[in-house]
Amino acid sequence: MEYFEPDYFHYKNNQLYCEELPVQEIAEDIGSPAYIYSKNYFIDRYKEFDEAFKEIKHTIFYACKSNFNLSVIKTFTDIGSGVDVNSEGELLRALKVGVDPQKIIMSGVGKTSEEIKLAIEKDLLMIKAESEEEIFLINEIAASLNKTARVAIRVNPDVDAQTHPYISTGLAENKFGVDTETALKLFRKQKDLKNIKFTGIDMHIGSQIIKVEPFVEAAKKLSELILQLKSDGIFLEHLDMGGGVGSTYNNEKTFAVKDFANALLPLLKKLECDVFFEPGRYLIANGGILLTKVLYNKKNHDKNFIVVDSAMNDLLRPSIYSAYHHIQPVVLKNNRKDIVADIVGPVCESGDFFAKKREIAQSNHGEYLAIMSAGAYGMPMASNYNSRRRPAEVLVDGKNYKIIRSRETFDHLFFDEPELI
Ligand code: LLP
Repeated sequence: MEYFEPDYFHYKNNQLYCEELPVQEIAEDIGSPAYIYSKNYFIDRYKEFDEAFKEIKHTIFYACKSNFNLSVIKTFTDIGSGVDVNSEGELLRALKVGVDPQKIIMSGVGKTSEEIKLAIEKDLLMIKAESEEEIFLINEIAASLNKTARVAIRVNPDVDAQTHPYISTGLAENKFGVDTETALKLFRKQKDLKNIKFTGIDMHIGSQIIKVEPFVEAAKKLSELILQLKSDGIFLEHLDMGGGVGSTYNNEKTFAVKDFANALLPLLKKLECDVFFEPGRYLIANGGILLTKVLYNKKNHDKNFIVVDSAMNDLLRPSIYSAYHHIQPVVLKNNRKDIVADIVGPVCESGDFFAKKREIAQSNHGEYLAIMSAGAYGMPMASNYNSRRRPAEVLVDGKNYKIIRSRETFDHLFFDEPELI
């Protein structure tokens, strides 16, 4: 079998390390399942992104939906990142970390009045509006608070991001944003909207995008709109390019962030406005693993199964997107044959799998496996299905690690059901 060794995860003397710590040591201390993240992977990726766009005025807003653990958010904001939030809960998380509201932006196709109110009360840098009705509601709520809300309009550029249909968001058929005609019409209403200041234009065309062309095509459409608005006397402060930069999970040929910048810079330089980016996955996916333990090996008819102690409730991506994640032993053993097996969890569904027909070294009861590339959209999509407790999260920094979220206790499962009927 092949082993995947993204930066900060590597084998030394047959042991998988996260930074300078053998994963087996963490496993023996805290058990499984657990998410293990490399802090320095996160930091390096952020710096690389930031550096790639140094020629223009830009701000990175870490899309914390990809991993909203407080310590992960703090890792990014400590080195200068802003935060993109998609709900009241994510906003409260960013505020709890102590992020300056002027470094927080809010997304969401279906914000409630409460969410809009909180965003305005806290003076967020901007709210991204996705419909005419929402813009009127923001104006109304801002008026009732005697404030002016800073608003960007999310445009749906009708561009094919060439990604999984569930995470493609910039096509005409998708629910997100408004078309360019509507955006123009709405921007032109500025003078009637006394409690809104339109500050920008926003897009997010999808996630796990592995070609630069869709970004360039969408950016072209948005810059034409910006120029058109300029000629109307409407000057925007920023263009928000959204997130979506893909990561390598298997053998996809992704683009380097430098190439992304080189493709976009000629266009962005002309706009003379601050450019925002909202990366999530790119900064963290390959900086995390899900640690799991082999429970059983079994054979059904002629098929091999390895049953592990984590399940679709811990990492949903393989079940819902048929997403590929490398799975490899935490400790490599000599003389183990490779087998072909489905790697599955204990949940009562056949959709509960991490890999199908996967070549993997024979692994025995009690041995640990690493499910790779699990830093993004792992823990935030975890649930309590089958009344399973959600896993612990660990952040490794050099030779040390910290538990940044403890494994749920059984009390967690009962605390909001205090009384029996
Ligand atoms: N900005 C907005 C408005 C978004 O909706 C998203 C992701 C991002 C930024 C960050 O996108 P990224 O850079 O991480 O691609 N659960 C799926 C991914 C859903 C993405 C949703 N929106 C998965 O596991 O693949």
